[in-house]
Amino acid sequence: MQTEIANFNFYNPTRILFGKNQIEAMDAYIPQNAKVLITYGGGSAKRFGTIDRVVEALGNRKWDTFSGIEANPHFETLMQAVEKVKEENFDFIIAVGGGSVIDGTKFIAAASVFPGDPIDIFGQGIGAGKPIEEALPFGTVLTLPATSSEMNSGAVITFEELKAKVSFSSEKTFPKFSVLEPEITYTLPDRQLRNGLTDTFIHLLEDYLTYPVDARLQDAWSEASLREIIKLAPELNADNYDYSVRANYMWICTNGLNNILRPGVPTDWATHELGHEITAFNNTDHARTLTPVMLATMKVRKEEKYEKLIQYAENVWGITEANDEEKITLAIDKTAEFFQSIEMPTTLEEIGVKEADIDYLVTQLEKHDDTALGENNQQTLDISRKIYETAL
Ligand code: NZQ
Ligand code: ZN
Repeated sequence: MQTEIANFNFYNPTRILFGKNQIEAMDAYIPQNAKVLITYGGGSAKRFGTIDRVVEALGNRKWDTFSGIEANPHFETLMQAVEKVKEENFDFIIAVGGGSVIDGTKFIAAASVFPGDPIDIFGQGIGAGKPIEEALPFGTVLTLPATSSEMNSGAVITFEELKAKVSFSSEKTFPKFSVLEPEITYTLPDRQLRNGLTDTFIHLLEDYLTYPVDARLQDAWSEASLREIIKLAPELNADNYDYSVRANYMWICTNGLNNILRPGVPTDWATHELGHEITAFNNTDHARTLTPVMLATMKVRKEEKYEKLIQYAENVWGITEANDEEKITLAIDKTAEFFQSIEMPTTLEEIGVKEADIDYLVTQLEKHDDTALGENNQQTLDISRKIYETAL
């Protein structure tokens, strides 16, 4: 088992344009002669005027739009955009949306220039899992802080008929730039604000809650981010237009999974794999699948995560006056209370998963090669089953 920070090769080339009136600033980072496809989702970006601002910023460049990228973006929808890009020779894309539109755009950017069938971009029992050698350049305008897709190279795509949600990642699919305007979050409803904050909380735990390797900065930064999320949560409401609250919310989310906290440390990510199966099964919002699974993981995999759970109890929740076992129990209880305080589920029942569904979920994990998950690849299907059962 790893005992110190492992060798790493860290790369993140995405430019961040943060603050007020930053859509205008992207002009400098798009070639003057580019033919731009603007991608967006179900309509919020159009309704709230963001698309109009992007069009204005493009000046005299040629442009068109592709809308209708749904939450948990579907392969089939994205392939329509790929056809459009190829037929009309777009050479730059701007994604305007949350994780779904940005992830979908990463796929469009790669698939439009992929030699062969784009299904082979995916592994995990879906396609051949071939590397992406090339992708069209793209930028993003983030409308929903949550996934950090705006500053990473990963994407998660849903295959509706196969009931599968699988990811890919490539050095070629980093955004060239991302516009982060905290004021764009003013139109988000409570549910999405809480989803975003929670998704980030879980991203931090996936990278942090493993075993210690004396990674002092990664640990301290993760703990500080977790504490700030807990502090921010009561203020992050749809009717609170405090710029500072939104600015901190946005930047904490982006840093939760731009991989700055990950170099050289063991990481888990099983909660996400188990959660993706739930979304593929019954379309539950991504973040709402994670909270019950993470709480159950803390219990079922307590022994492997023992030291980090104690560190989490002490440094995130300030629990120091108790023995080790009590610290862990209290930290898990506090985490559950926190999720409840922002109306996130703590049991699978709350998101429509019953005991009788667990066989199906475990079969799907097997189909998607998720048979050796977690920081030490020791989370077998039996352990995943136990986690689902504990989460009920
Ligand atoms: O479609 P529209 O009308 O735009 O509405 C969206 C959507 O219904 C709405 N919304 C977005 N910005 C808004 C807004 N409504 C009002 N005002 C705004 N400013 O919010 C709804 C949800 O959007 P979505 O993009 O689906 O949410 P999120 O950002 O949480 O993304 C979730 C997707 O990202 C994947 C998830 O699996 C899921 O598919 N993830 C991507 C990751 C990555 N690339 O690194 C990591 C994550 O762990 C995650 O797996
Ligand atoms: Zn997530």
